[in-house]
Amino acid sequence: MPITILITGSSQGLGKELALVLADKGRTIISHGRDKSSLDALKKQIEKRGAENIIVRGDLTAEKTIATLVSAAKKNNIDILINNAAQYLNCEFLNMKENEIHTMVEVNFISQVKLVRGILPHFLEKNKGLIININSLAGQKGSYGETLYSASKHALKGFSNSLKLEVLSKGIRITDVYLAAMATKMTFQRKDQDLLIKPEEAAKLISQLCTENESVYVSEIQLLRRKYG
Ligand SMILES: NC(=O)c1ccc[n+]([C@@H]2O[C@H](COP(=O)([O-])OP(=O)(O)OC[C@H]3O[C@@H](n4cnc5c(N)ncnc54)[C@H](OP(=O)(O)O)[C@@H]3O)[C@@H](O)[C@H]2O)c1
Repeated sequence: MPITILITGSSQGLGKELALVLADKGRTIISHGRDKSSLDALKKQIEKRGAENIIVRGDLTAEKTIATLVSAAKKNNIDILINNAAQYLNCEFLNMKENEIHTMVEVNFISQVKLVRGILPHFLEKNKGLIININSLAGQKGSYGETLYSASKHALKGFSNSLKLEVLSKGIRITDVYLAAMATKMTFQRKDQDLLIKPEEAAKLISQLCTENESVYVSEIQLLRRKYG
């Protein structure tokens, strides 16, 4: 049976690696991001692996992007939604601009709530569906210079844990992935790159959540670094 997976923010970083590791014969990957050339290049790699690819391009702060993502998801009978896209800013609170505060909350939290709101009724109709929310250790505890990033990820955690209580008995699984620092564009300024989690390794572990078991399910996982400087 074909499986359709939507991964937000799959033009690069963890989302891209997830798209590649999940791209298998008989599957449809709905990829998303803003950068056209990255998405076009990814499409070739996905199709080479035998999966179909549908690109939805657009900023998550735009209603039109959310509507297009929801429509593509429903049209292709979505099975798995991976809320992965996020923005990051390391900046002390009072130095943040007002628009940066709004964008962080909009991209990292509100847009994900809107996507779930659009796609959940489809999952409920089928009594089946998996939502994976990519979170961060900063979504579990405070982190210096990350007030708004951390707050947006805490909001996602609260939303996700509460929604689980409403939908688990209706066949919908929601899994939260709490990640330590990973070597992507988000952390390009760090000097300890070789000590960070490799996104392709994280993607391999996360892809194992995309299977189904009758009597057990994974509510959350934490992916930690093996190496510290
Ligand atoms: N890297 C880390 O150290 C780390 C640690 C813990 C958790 N995480 C989490 O892991 C997930 C993936 O992060 P990453 O490190 O892979 O980040 P990344 O390499 O910066 O990639 C972010 C992705 O999100 C998309 N995106 C960002 N803002 C967007 C917007 N306004 N509208 C549409 N798309 C947008 C980007 O698309 P375009 O580039 O095409 O715009 C890109 O595909 C995030 O949820 C992040 O919070 C990362």
